[in-house]
Amino acid sequence: MHRILFVCLGNICRSPLGEGILRHKAEKSRIKLTIDSAGTGNWHVGEHPDKRAIKTANDHGIDISKLAARQITENDFENFDMIYVADAEVYDGVLNLALNREHKLKVDYIMNLVHPDLNMPVPDPYFGGAEGFEKIYDMLDKACDKIISTLKGK
Ligand code: 4NP
Repeated sequence: MHRILFVCLGNICRSPLGEGILRHKAEKSRIKLTIDSAGTGNWHVGEHPDKRAIKTANDHGIDISKLAARQITENDFENFDMIYVADAEVYDGVLNLALNREHKLKVDYIMNLVHPDLNMPVPDPYFGGAEGFEKIYDMLDKACDKIISTLKGK
């Protein structure tokens, strides 16, 4: 379970933050992971993360400024062990690409790591203010802590 993909709609706000936070924690814990992020939509392909996401990460000592948005593909179901989605719209978009049961079993809501089975969304901060980004940072931070502690076996 060492290859982890974060997915949101645009791959410029929520999923690149998740990617950056988990990479930072994995490096600190000396755990070798393959981490990436993608969007179900193609609007922002090739773009760096939203400036507000970059700033929020930066405020926490994490640099996500060089990440570039891409769209999820069918290959991602083979290349990753777990695919963590931000909300129900993203979940539906990802499941539409799944070719079989194995693929579907890899997909879960990221916040189910913290609040099992509730399918809680990481709210889309794109059309809101800066405070939305701090809120989703905290949510993703808790979820990533869970990934790390599970991998450490405690
Ligand atoms: P994200 O946020 O899915 O967290 O990257 C969004 C970014 C862009 C759009 C929607 C959500 N958009 O509609 O362009």
